[in-house]
Amino acid sequence: MDFTELSVSRRTIRRFIQKMVPDEELHHLVDMAHYASCASNKQPLRYVVIRENGLVKKVFETTRWAGLVSPRRTPVWGVDAPLCFIALTVPSDAGNMVLADAGAAIQTLQLAAWERGLGCCWFASFDPEAVAQYLQLPPSRKVLYLVAVGFPAEHPVGEKAVDGNVTYYLDEKDVLHIPKLPVDEITVWK
Ligand SMILES: Cc1cc2nc3c(=O)[nH]c(=O)nc-3n(C[C@H](O)[C@H](O)[C@H](O)COP(=O)(O)O)c2cc1C
Repeated sequence: MDFTELSVSRRTIRRFIQKMVPDEELHHLVDMAHYASCASNKQPLRYVVIRENGLVKKVFETTRWAGLVSPRRTPVWGVDAPLCFIALTVPSDAGNMVLADAGAAIQTLQLAAWERGLGCCWFASFDPEAVAQYLQLPPSRKVLYLVAVGFPAEHPVGEKAVDGNVTYYLDEKDVLHIPKLPVDEITVWK
């Protein structure tokens, strides 16, 4: 897959085949993420790869999935839930710049996963204090985002948004549609 196809075809995945992602693949994803741009090259991000079953379950239970179509895209533990998460942690006193650092890293990670036939769901909606406790983080670190990683068990589709409507939805076949605004509507040239 070339970069254009990768970028256009990647979709967030919220249903997963119950097959563990090999550690080498997870290592590759973090490896790709850690090459991303970051402010002043300070590299404040750290990664926790979570794939011990009991821990994954506890983390999973803190996550909230696809609010606009809830509960239809909330996976069920043991049926189609992810078998691993990657947590991004930052210093507890970090400023806003880490949000951009994490964004660059996670998008890189998601594209690297997609290239290898893996899907991701990026989480801002979860309980960071509970997850920090489960991961036994010191007070000096906090969990900024989670990313679920696994083999896709759904095939969401991207489409052009009509009349500015960007509300994602499930169709009658239970396929998730993700409308994206046309690039010429969101770009000005000077
Ligand atoms: C910062 C950020 C936070 C997100 N948090 C969640 C979340 O908590 N739960 C969830 O199900 N999806 C979450 N997502 C995934 C978005 O819903 C998804 O990216 C969006 O619907 C567009 O779909 P696409 O990734 O397939 O283009 C998040 C995405 C981003 C960038």
